[in-house]
Amino acid sequence: MNIGIIGYGSMGKMLARKFASSGFSEIESVLVSNRSKEKLQSVEKGISVCKSNSELAEKSDIIFVCVRPCDIKDILLEIKGSLKSDALLVSLNGSVTFEMLGKIISHKTAKVIPSVTAEINRSQTLVCYNNLVSESDKKSLCKILGCMGQVVELPESELGMGSELVSCMPGFIASIFDVICKAAKSHTSLPEEQIVSMVLNTVSATAELMTQKNMAFNDVVSRVATKGGITEEGAKVIYEMFPNAAEEMFVKTLEKRRLTAEKAKESFQA
Ligand SMILES: NC(=O)c1ccc[n+]([C@@H]2O[C@H](COP(=O)([O-])OP(=O)(O)OC[C@H]3O[C@@H](n4cnc5c(N)ncnc54)[C@H](OP(=O)(O)O)[C@@H]3O)[C@@H](O)[C@H]2O)c1
Repeated sequence: MNIGIIGYGSMGKMLARKFASSGFSEIESVLVSNRSKEKLQSVEKGISVCKSNSELAEKSDIIFVCVRPCDIKDILLEIKGSLKSDALLVSLNGSVTFEMLGKIISHKTAKVIPSVTAEINRSQTLVCYNNLVSESDKKSLCKILGCMGQVVELPESELGMGSELVSCMPGFIASIFDVICKAAKSHTSLPEEQIVSMVLNTVSATAELMTQKNMAFNDVVSRVATKGGITEEGAKVIYEMFPNAAEEMFVKTLEKRRLTAEKAKESFQA
């Protein structure tokens, strides 16, 4: 099968690179197109450049649309007449609904949300489908997405929170531990690189420990925070003060998600 990728930005480039190097025999070619042609001047081995989105649509069996929500409608109008009748169109955007996409095309459609952890083949890529997608299409799509890690199917209505938990989460985790490392720095003469390395290794090992030993967060806390001890003091502060920040974070991100979806809806009505 031929895989087409429209939009050679952050996500499109990562998908193209992953598919091209997957070694999957079912992938015959990986085709890309992009609005600004400069980005396509030096593509990696195994990736072919198409002159236009329509040329890519004509040649592809699965088309990943990796552009910002405001650009999706125009691209669908542009490629509509060139898509193979049994092509599977995959949108990487969570805010544009199947209902909106269905106003322009009547093809099999999926939505796919990868995480930046796909870079090390540890993505939990979210996927949902419109009702035209067959079991065999789902199997093919999940197989190729498997080159980046796990694939998790969710109903369209849960894609928002799902995206917070796997796609936004690397950013949330990085910012939480950035704050912790900065706070640690003001109490020690250890160099910053060493603080970051110690914390990062501990974060990664704690996640691995919990997964391998099937431990809950509580199990780790009670294992480390002995009664009357030092960790208990720190954990108490986190349980007292952090819930407000976590709640506020979701209030803000979910509201932003709602506004983005509204804007996307308006752009499809225009
Ligand atoms: N970044 C993430 O972690 C992430 C995770 C999950 C889902 N997503 C979703 O994935 C989508 C892409 O995100 P991104 O971060 O990859 O964005 P990005 O880096 O801005 O890339 C978008 C690309 O689309 C190209 N483009 C725009 N209009 C086009 C057109 N008419 N024809 C061909 N190419 C066109 C742009 O070309 P130019 O060079 O001309 O600008 C740019 O290279 C978004 O909908 C986003 O919500 C992102």
